[in-house]
Amino acid sequence: KRVAIFISGGGSNMLRLVDSMTGDHPGRPVLVLSNRADAGGIAAAAARGIATAVVDHRPFKGDRAGFEAALQAELDRAAPDILCLAGFMRVLTAGFVMPWAGRMLNIHPSLLPKYRGLDTHARALAAGDAEHGCTVHEVTPELDEGPILGQARVAVAQDDTPDTLAARVLAMEHQLYPAVLRRFAQGDRSPLLLP
Ligand code: GRF
Repeated sequence: KRVAIFISGGGSNMLRLVDSMTGDHPGRPVLVLSNRADAGGIAAAAARGIATAVVDHRPFKGDRAGFEAALQAELDRAAPDILCLAGFMRVLTAGFVMPWAGRMLNIHPSLLPKYRGLDTHARALAAGDAEHGCTVHEVTPELDEGPILGQARVAVAQDDTPDTLAARVLAMEHQLYPAVLRRFAQGDRSPLLLP
């Protein structure tokens, strides 16, 4: 399966996905795209010989459809079977998402359906949750909705700050996303629960 990955920043999840697609893995990375030219993940992907693209969202201010048409033009060129969002920080409209229904994944740093949106770690701490984690789900037009393909849980520590909790969740993201992508690329959509 040809896999494209969208990022906005460091791309640590993208790198784990790329590095997992070796040997008998059913997936192969065909494109890493960022909405920011300064995303560290772009240089890292290029260093791995993977095709990269940058579609800066700023020239399209107020023209979401134009931005998404530019994204789709890059996808038309790379012709992926699966699209993975990995730390991609732009909201995508139904117009972009619908044609990718059933072929598009995202990782979100909370145990969905809890804490859709931003600042998930601070919100879990404020709520006094005993556990937190991350979710890989199929992307649908509703933000952070869609069928859950995998979740990983971490215990919240008394002295956790949003940063310490985020770091532990990110480490679990790096385990969860590659495991879910491997299953998904083989047609297995049964939820994976870690640990
Ligand atoms: C992290 O906050 C992660 O929880 C979320 O996207 C952010 C950046 O991840 N999925 P990455 O290092 O760019 O993959």
